Amino acid sequence: MDKRITLKISKIEDETKDIKTFTFNHKLNAKPGQFIMLTDFEGGEKPFSISDCSENEFSITVKKIGEFTSRLFQKGVGDYMSVRGAFGSSFFVSNGKVLLVGGGYGSPPLYFLAKKLLKAGANIAVVNGAQTKDDLVFCDRFSKLGIKYQNITEAGCLGRKGTSVDLAKGALTKEKFDFIYAAGPEMMMKALQGVIGEVDYEFLFERYMKCAIGICGNCTMDPLGIRLCVEGPVLPKKIIEQLTEFGKYRRDASGKRIRY
Ligand SMILES: Cc1cc2nc3c(=O)[nH]c(=O)nc-3n(C[C@H](O)[C@H](O)[C@H](O)COP(=O)(O)OP(=O)(O)OC[C@H]3O[C@@H](n4cnc5c(N)ncnc54)[C@H](O)[C@@H]3O)c2cc1C
Ligand code: FES
Repeated sequence: MDKRITLKISKIEDETKDIKTFTFNHKLNAKPGQFIMLTDFEGGEKPFSISDCSENEFSITVKKIGEFTSRLFQKGVGDYMSVRGAFGSSFFVSNGKVLLVGGGYGSPPLYFLAKKLLKAGANIAVVNGAQTKDDLVFCDRFSKLGIKYQNITEAGCLGRKGTSVDLAKGALTKEKFDFIYAAGPEMMMKALQGVIGEVDYEFLFERYMKCAIGICGNCTMDPLGIRLCVEGPVLPKKIIEQLTEFGKYRRDASGKRIRY
């Protein structure tokens, strides 16, 4: 729904030195994989995935990157923000044996998904990766769900060096899964696609977004013209397999292609 609402930040949790979770008291009725557009009235409106959502509150988990997110990190509990959404497609909720593959600050929406999958009776395994221990998020939250959980860092801070795709590859050689979900850097998902084999999957894509309601065309992907803010950000295997730009290039604010 494209209606703007003003909400007070009700809780702020430090996840790592540059990742925080912001919670708002509001009945959002969001589904896992969907996102909101957020502004602080000082310029810029940015998309953020929903990392948790219950009857009366929802959360987003944000990495401090540039101008907007730096301003957001200076906010406190009780400060006002303006929200549009929830927007976009959501993950299919399976009740089978599923593998969730997360990378960096991309993992939090998989936590919201994991809670829904648990309710549906799914058998869940999560693999979560990041560059260093300081970039790994939601380890405690995933572990507390009582599901199979493994993490890894590229720097080897937790023992073995590697990525969540390495862990996924290991899991896929030992066990058979009905469905795979992924959220994280696009190149992580591209590498994952290469090891998945015949298993069905859905990935969550992050591309530059402006309107979030399918009008500006900034978030389209070649050659189908899929608008990630409407038909995505969660896309199914049969669509992803046709995307010629997946893992090759992304677009900046002006729509110009930038090679990965
Ligand atoms: C569907 C979706 C879900 C997202 N979920 C999360 C999330 O859960 N947590 C999180 O920390 N970040 C998320 N992002 C990315 C987040 O929107 C950007 O990191 C944020 O906008 C950076 O703004 P900035 O002004 O701090 O940085 P800037 O300096 O403006 O930009 C830094 C980088 O952020 C990206 N970015 C900037 N503006 C946008 C935009 N309007 N749309 C998409 N990407 C942008 C670009 O890659 C840019 O190079 C998501 C993006 C999308 C499209
Ligand atoms: S952000 Fe405008 S069409 Fe998707």
